[in-house]
Amino acid sequence: MSGIKEKFDLSSKLIIVSGGNGLIGRAVVDGLLEIGARVICLDFACDIKHDRLEFIEIDVTDYEKVEEIIKSIGDREHGIDGLVNMAYPRTSLYGKYDFLDSDIYDWLKNLEMHVGSYFWLSKCVSESMIKHGKKGSIINFGSTYGVVGPNFSIYENTDMKNPSVYAAIKGGIINLSRYMATYLAKYGIRVNVVSPGGVWDHQPEEFVRRYEKLVPLGRMASPVDLVGGVVYLLSDASLYVTGQNIMVDGGWTAW
Ligand SMILES: NC(=O)c1ccc[n+]([C@@H]2O[C@H](COP(=O)([O-])OP(=O)(O)OC[C@H]3O[C@@H](n4cnc5c(N)ncnc54)[C@H](O)[C@@H]3O)[C@@H](O)[C@H]2O)c1
Repeated sequence: MSGIKEKFDLSSKLIIVSGGNGLIGRAVVDGLLEIGARVICLDFACDIKHDRLEFIEIDVTDYEKVEEIIKSIGDREHGIDGLVNMAYPRTSLYGKYDFLDSDIYDWLKNLEMHVGSYFWLSKCVSESMIKHGKKGSIINFGSTYGVVGPNFSIYENTDMKNPSVYAAIKGGIINLSRYMATYLAKYGIRVNVVSPGGVWDHQPEEFVRRYEKLVPLGRMASPVDLVGGVVYLLSDASLYVTGQNIMVDGGWTAW
């Protein structure tokens, strides 16, 4: 017997999810609760109510507050088993300008907020895991656009944009995760990335049609498509997996 059923059991695990009230976040939090994990959601709000879910209202770019909260959760709970970084911090100008019209200060601010908060939460949680002897699992959300360049033809005649800073953010997060995976391996802490393809969210029909033509599996993602990869990487079924970027993109990057 491989004990695989027990390895997928998350009922003794405490998982922190940043951005747990978002489009994908709500599906991930729901899925983790359904499989029995205890979840702490860090976000501005939280629509899900559950007796194994705790909501902490926090801006993840408030780095001092993040450090304080993670330390107090770790000490109160005698350790944290997992972190899923999936918040999407952005400025009001994010996605509003083209590459050639870029505002450098806004570009840098978005880079700082997104990469900075993923880095700092990972650092604070791993520090707490080390302190409490937890061989935990950290998952950072990447994107297909951290791996390949955009196909701009799908955005034609829509007001949708693909911000250049997103390539720097997600490319940075994917390789930062590899760094943390090799650095933290000596503590038994694993760090991986889940990279979604485009998730359907009422985008213009023309965009959806063009997008789906470029996906081998022929459709955009649904938030629940991301849950399985997250559960696997948080569970003991993936104890020998670290530094990897799992593409959940219907094959978008496989052509
Ligand atoms: N939706 C997609 O098509 C898609 C595709 C590829 C990758 N991703 C990635 O998946 C992750 C989740 O994306 P999503 O579509 O669910 O995003 P979303 O915008 O729907 O949700 C993001 C959540 O983060 C929270 N948040 C934003 N800034 C915050 C801050 N400063 N402090 C605390 N919480 C904050 C928001 O309140 C929201 O609940 C992101 O990393 C995103 O880049 C999304």
